[in-house]
Amino acid sequence: APEDMRPQVGDFLVRTKGDPKALTPEDVGVGKKPIQAFAMSPDGVVRSSDFENGLLLVHYEPADLSDDAKKLSAEGVLAYSIICTHAGCEATNWIPEENTIECPCHGSHFDAKNNGAVLFGPASRKLPQLGLEVKDGKIVVAAEFDSRIGGDETM
Ligand code: FES
Repeated sequence: APEDMRPQVGDFLVRTKGDPKALTPEDVGVGKKPIQAFAMSPDGVVRSSDFENGLLLVHYEPADLSDDAKKLSAEGVLAYSIICTHAGCEATNWIPEENTIECPCHGSHFDAKNNGAVLFGPASRKLPQLGLEVKDGKIVVAAEFDSRIGGDETM
C-alpha cells in the first residue's frame, strides 16, 4: 500500500503530527530544532504506517556541510533515517552544540553535517541519508536513501 512504501522520488515531506502540509526549507530553519517527518506522495498519502520510514530533518548553511551530505541536501536541508543502524531504535536525540544525532538506546552518535557518519559507537554504520531538492519552494525527495535502513543487530 502507498502508506507503507519507502519515500519515493517526487514525494513531499510533512511533519509526523498535525496537518500534512508540504515542508519548505524555511520550516526547517538553520539552527532550529530538527523536525521529525514522513514522506507524502504527490496525491497526499502520508507514508507513515511503517515507523522505519521516519525522518529527521536538519538544516545548515550548505558551506558547512561535507561534500557527501551536501550532494543529498536541498539548500542545506538534510533528511536522515531515524532508525539507528545499531539495533533499530529511533535515533532522535539532538545535541546541537555537537551537530550530533544521538540514539537513546546505547548512545551511538551520528554526525548531522557529515552524511550521518558514526562519531561514537556501538553503531558501526552511518545513518542513511535521503536525497532532497527544492521544487516550487517545497522540499521534495530527489533520490532514495544512500544506504540500507534498519538495525544490524537484534537486542
Ligand atoms: Fe542505537 Fe543501539 S540501537 S545505539
